[in-house]
Amino acid sequence: MAAASSPDRLIIFDTTLRDGEQSPGASMTKEEKMRIARLLEKMKVDVIEAGFPASSNGDFEAVKAIANTIKDSTIAGLCRANDRDIQRGIDALKGAKSWRVHTFIATSALHMEKKLRMTPDQVFEQAKLSVRYARNACPDVEFSPEDGYRSDMDFLCRILEAVIKEGATTINVPDTVGYAVPELYGEFFKTLRTRIPNSDKAIWSAHCHNDLGMAVANSLAAVTMGGVRQVECTINGLGERAGNTSLEEIVMAVKTRKDFFKLETRIDASQIVPISRLVSQITGFVVQPNKAVVGANAFAHASGIHQDGVLKARDTYEIMRAEDVGWSANKIVLGKLSGRNAFRQRLEQLGISLDSETQLNESFAKFKDLADKKADIFDEDIQMLFADQHEADERYKLISMKQSSEMGESPQASVTLTEAGAEKHAAAQGSGPVDATFKAIESIAKSEAELVLYSVNAVTQGTDSQGEVTVRLARAGRIVNGVGADTDVIVASARAYVSALNKLFDKSERLNPQTSGTI
Ligand code: KIV
Ligand code: ZN
Repeated sequence: MAAASSPDRLIIFDTTLRDGEQSPGASMTKEEKMRIARLLEKMKVDVIEAGFPASSNGDFEAVKAIANTIKDSTIAGLCRANDRDIQRGIDALKGAKSWRVHTFIATSALHMEKKLRMTPDQVFEQAKLSVRYARNACPDVEFSPEDGYRSDMDFLCRILEAVIKEGATTINVPDTVGYAVPELYGEFFKTLRTRIPNSDKAIWSAHCHNDLGMAVANSLAAVTMGGVRQVECTINGLGERAGNTSLEEIVMAVKTRKDFFKLETRIDASQIVPISRLVSQITGFVVQPNKAVVGANAFAHASGIHQDGVLKARDTYEIMRAEDVGWSANKIVLGKLSGRNAFRQRLEQLGISLDSETQLNESFAKFKDLADKKADIFDEDIQMLFADQHEADERYKLISMKQSSEMGESPQASVTLTEAGAEKHAAAQGSGPVDATFKAIESIAKSEAELVLYSVNAVTQGTDSQGEVTVRLARAGRIVNGVGADTDVIVASARAYVSALNKLFDKSERLNPQTSGTI
């Protein structure tokens, strides 16, 4: 099956839906997770970590839905090392064709003493019992010693030998805080694998965070020096703080430098750019233009000398082909005259599957509205129609809005919203039309949230492009992202603000597995 290993195969374990989701404001709905999971499957990711089932009922349902749907990737769920969490994981995952329980407990002196308030012996026992419990239900069990890289080597050898004896099939040693450097992380694995007598019974895995910008380099050093054959990564390097190892960089490094790595992956690289866009649209985490592989400039040869070289022979300056990672030359895919069938077909090609005819009708109506405003509809526009989706029970809905601005005058905005079904109107002035619109919305919602990020991006090229707006709000330690799109950037901004408010007022809280000290 998908996660089987051989010495020249590198297993790609994607944790966008779990570790990626732990980025501030990146939490996703079940439907959003399902859309990403479908594309990850299409890209042939070996293992999809779909979530942390014990963190909330919502995440339990999302993991269960993904497990019951995805057939060509192993579905993993993260569980703290206790029977309750693991049972919750088993219940969510057991419908999958291939599934994995991923259990973890912190092993560094600092984490054991300050976070868990447990002795090393207690942690040792807890780890063994948890792997035993998981193995009774599932043949595929991964164990991670959290903050493993900063843990005492003797203790780590003792605990990892014990969990392998209990049947752990993958051992993942995370650099939880992004402290490692490539040579030392590679050596670390080499020492572990040499010192642990039963190390050959498990597949070894790297999991890096990018706090010092070395997550990809560290993971690759673990592969080349440490004999690691699974890398845990996320799309666009999404993740807490500076993020995780970036999937696209690992995959393209291994492919492009096959002469050096001598490893195969199953990944269909042509899906990299579509999935990068989807994750960015859903989470509101914009990809920096100079990001390797998926940044807008990654294949743009701006300098005259480079352009000349690339025209004469592309490999003068290009080591990868843009089309191999899914950059299409901005193809027009649909327009005003396209019918339902063409629309449905394009959705299928983009990996967007709808649950009902009603959903298809609703999205087709939205597509027609957009085609009235914009002559050429690109894949990015179609994906955006789905990124900007709404739940039936949302507290706020934008009904209408208007604004006026004139040079030298103070811009004015008025908005009509429904708040829990009741229609409300408000007007406000601001330093610009966006500011006035947000003030009008806020005078209804009175959220008192702090606006910590406002960003606008063009979805495609040209002045008729949709603007994609991200709004990040913070209140009482909670951070949420809202995304909105429209050919009118003020409308897109209002939609993004309303979407962020809906998330802020949504009561369902998720537990963060790593900051929760109780096991
Ligand atoms: O960074 C980390 O330690 C983790 C583990 C839970 C695998 O994400
Ligand atoms: Zn992590």
